[in-house]
Amino acid sequence: MLERETERLIVRKFTKDDWKDLYDYLSIPEVVKYEPYDVFTKNDCIEEAKSRAYEQRDMFWAVCFKKSRKMIGHVYFAQLEPDELKTWTIGYVFNPKYYGNGYATEACKSILQYGFKVKNAHRIVAGVCAENKPSWKLLERLSMRKEAHFIKNIFFEKTSEGKPIWNDAYRYAMLSTEYDG
Ligand SMILES: CC(C)(COP(=O)(O)OP(=O)(O)OC[C@H]1O[C@@H](n2cnc3c(N)ncnc32)[C@H](O)[C@@H]1OP(=O)(O)O)[C@@H](O)C(=O)NCCC(=O)NCCS
Repeated sequence: MLERETERLIVRKFTKDDWKDLYDYLSIPEVVKYEPYDVFTKNDCIEEAKSRAYEQRDMFWAVCFKKSRKMIGHVYFAQLEPDELKTWTIGYVFNPKYYGNGYATEACKSILQYGFKVKNAHRIVAGVCAENKPSWKLLERLSMRKEAHFIKNIFFEKTSEGKPIWNDAYRYAMLSTEYDG
């Protein structure tokens, strides 16, 4: 299934031409603050869009406006090993121009439905930095259950002496039996 439709959005597989829309948001430091990578250059985005269109095709979904087809963010959805646990992880990054309208919620709901109804997932999980309130609020809007609070287990920055600045993290989850979509 290459394309999913929601009320306002198309959630589809990446094409190599998506690099420009990807650059619009992956080049912004605040957007990648809690991601395991730094800001992307234009060239990085050209390579990344190609990779998401081919090698990483299964894992990334581009989220676009239904009318203009502008890509406004993406959802990451990948199966964790071993396969027999039937567990997927979900992640998301959106263009800040479009925050505050429920687009991320709408796109992630569609991917949860894909996970439970099409992929037959037993469990879908998400990890989030405790400081990243917009992200854990999104997980709560999706009715995911907070099941762990890890103390100072991750860092996204280092001090000038090169020491990690530790952060707490939460894990959220939803079981197929909890899904009511
Ligand atoms: C995480 C992220 C996607 C959340 O974006 P967002 O705009 O807050 O999320 P949504 O698109 O679901 O919009 C929800 C907001 O719109 C409001 N809203 C308006 N219309 C809405 C609707 N129809 N449905 C749901 N919410 C709606 C909600 O009340 C909420 O606003 P609030 O936070 O002021 O209460 C965004 O902050 C982001 O991309 N951050 C950078 C990347 C990142 O950190 N990713 C996560 C790493 S773990």
